[in-house]
Amino acid sequence: MKRVLLGFGLAAATAALLVAAGCASLATPEAPGSGSPSPAASGGGTVQASQQVKDGAQLYVNLACVRCHAPDGVGGIPNRLNVGGDSTVPPLNNTYRSSDEQFTNPMQITQVLDEGGIVSKKPGIVNMPSWKGVVNSAQADALAAYILAGFPHVGVTYDPDPAKAPDIYEAYACMQCHGQVGLNATPPPAPNPKTADKEVPGLRNPDDPVPQSEMRSFLVDGSIPDPGTKGVIFMPAWGQILSVDQIDLILPYIADGKAATKLPAPPAASPLPLAGGAAPAGGASPSPSGSP
Ligand code: HEC
Ligand code: HEC
Repeated sequence: MKRVLLGFGLAAATAALLVAAGCASLATPEAPGSGSPSPAASGGGTVQASQQVKDGAQLYVNLACVRCHAPDGVGGIPNRLNVGGDSTVPPLNNTYRSSDEQFTNPMQITQVLDEGGIVSKKPGIVNMPSWKGVVNSAQADALAAYILAGFPHVGVTYDPDPAKAPDIYEAYACMQCHGQVGLNATPPPAPNPKTADKEVPGLRNPDDPVPQSEMRSFLVDGSIPDPGTKGVIFMPAWGQILSVDQIDLILPYIADGKAATKLPAPPAASPLPLAGGAAPAGGASPSPSGSP
């Protein structure tokens, strides 16, 4: 499996800018040096940082922030349907933000994590989801610390282009909102108290035969709560973030109805850093990083 070191500032920036400049492929951000550095060799380019910043770096990967905001927080992933506003996902790294938009206070970040940033109800536009109830306050603080520290390279690795359904499900944080696939799985779906269901829907549900075509358009276009609703988790639009191949791979993995009963059991999930006491009861054993 190709795990690469998160970062290498300039290279990442160049890669992201190339994507932004309109390369045809709208797939996952290509991380620098894809496929080459092994986890063992990756120690070389890392710097010292506090445990909180390291946890933030890991969360940036596990919560799929890296998929939308790019490695090193350079932004630039196309958001082409958003004709009225920005045509890319914004950078989070102050180095790439204009001088009047610098992050100086962790609350500027934790508030967005809590409320999301709803910019458009048009289907297919990439909007910033609310992570309320998905991310606890220690995790939000760690993310903010990592962002404010300027995205230091602390040795966190990730797979730039996961190709197996369970890896895609994990890498794009489907798991963090929907819980592990299947009924009564661990972790469970995140609470979403202001909605009718009171939680994010679980996926791979034998009793709820949502057709694959419907799932596909949900995945591509996402869902946006009505204007004015705050603190509601919505389904991000992944159409410009996931490749077509990845979408084709993930759909059978989350199939509902009869197909769901025939699918093999999913792998055990590892908890996020700083999950602390909030870890689900009887949760999976914390197997560090890439188990497959
Ligand atoms: C599905 C894509 C997606 C994911 C995943 C995502 N973001 Fe965002 N994020 C966006 C978009 C698009 C915006 C711009 C929203 C706006 O303009 O209101 C944004 C905005 C932000 C902002 C405000 C930026 C500004 O310029 O004010 C912060 C902070 C942020 N995201 C942090 C994060 C963190 C931390 C994570 C991981 C927990 C994350 N995002 C995950 C798409 C995403
Ligand atoms: C930030 C949280 C979040 C993330 C991340 C997320 N989802 Fe969702 N998803 C939701 C919410 C909330 C809904 C329900 C939206 C609604 O009913 O309006 C939903 C709905 C869905 C549905 C429709 C389910 C049904 O029964 O109708 C599918 C399919 C789905 N998501 C797949 C995925 C996949 C695959 C991923 C990863 C690529 C993913 N989601 C990532 C929050 C999320």
